[in-house]
Amino acid sequence: MSLPASIRERLKIPVIAAPMFLVSGPELVIAACQSGIIGSFPAMNCRSSEDFAGWMTQIDAATGPHTAPYAVNMGLARMRGERLIADMDICRKFKPEFVITAVGNPAPVVDDIHEWGGLILHDVTTIKHAQKAIEAGVDGLVLVCAGAGGHGGPVSPLALVEQVRSFFDGIIVVAGGISTGRAVRAVEVLGGDLAYLGTRFIATTESMAEDAYKNMLLTEQTKDIVYTNAVSGVPANFMRSSLTAVGLDADNLPAPDGPFQPNLPEHLTAWKSIWSAGQGVGLIDDIPDTADLVARLTREYEEVR
Ligand SMILES: Cc1cc2nc3c(=O)[nH]c(=O)nc-3n(C[C@H](O)[C@H](O)[C@H](O)COP(=O)(O)O)c2cc1C
Repeated sequence: MSLPASIRERLKIPVIAAPMFLVSGPELVIAACQSGIIGSFPAMNCRSSEDFAGWMTQIDAATGPHTAPYAVNMGLARMRGERLIADMDICRKFKPEFVITAVGNPAPVVDDIHEWGGLILHDVTTIKHAQKAIEAGVDGLVLVCAGAGGHGGPVSPLALVEQVRSFFDGIIVVAGGISTGRAVRAVEVLGGDLAYLGTRFIATTESMAEDAYKNMLLTEQTKDIVYTNAVSGVPANFMRSSLTAVGLDADNLPAPDGPFQPNLPEHLTAWKSIWSAGQGVGLIDDIPDTADLVARLTREYEEVR
């Protein structure tokens, strides 16, 4: 099943404001949904399941059939055990229309999500992982392509999207350096249903990123994005100025001890002290309100439709 028409009708433009650790909070999610795009946030942005229930209450009250839907993001490997069980219980109560899973096997949560009528999208970076997720029964795939903020993949969307579409007729979401409405339209031309924009939404008034982070997005260029496994232990994109600001030599970063085991001084942590951005940073030069950004993306999208 591709993207249901009943959902597409509620969107001004086929976009998800992607979930971002320490960046996406209720204000950004609500502004996104009320502007006509899918808002999302990682459950791990809440310190506890009680906080998660609070955010869900707030978002649920401000969204509904009259707005675009919202999505909850669960990092399966990071959220093992009690926290995942408790957060899934809360989801069962609020019935989010989308759950986006990442890092781990989605199979154990697929039936639960379907039971409340939700759709499950799973993050993948390669064809092999796309096939595994399809076997697990997901409704859609987020193809995290080269140049994406966070844990960007190694493959160009020009190669990946069409190949995945050739064997999968479910929902295809495409991520990686998308900052304009024109690029959103390109996703559809390739056979994708939705574009996934992360970095672009860090530089909005509603994002939880601190001002220095937002301002760095205005000056940093595409050439300044460093793809390295040194910061989080797996390959991800970070801003060069952010690496140098904490005293690291961006061209000589220490090798990690293993996946998710970076070898940095203890006080330096990925996402918090070292800031991520995707290659689309070179197209960002303002910090608008989300509603204004969505209006602009819609104009750009319509111009090339
Ligand atoms: C600062 C930052 C934090 C992120 N945190 C998460 C996260 O917690 N969970 C997740 O699934 N993806 C996370 N991502 C990836 C985004 O959801 C999305 O795939 C990516 O930002 C899209 O690429 P773009 O930034 O080039 O638009 C993060 C990305 C950034 C830039």
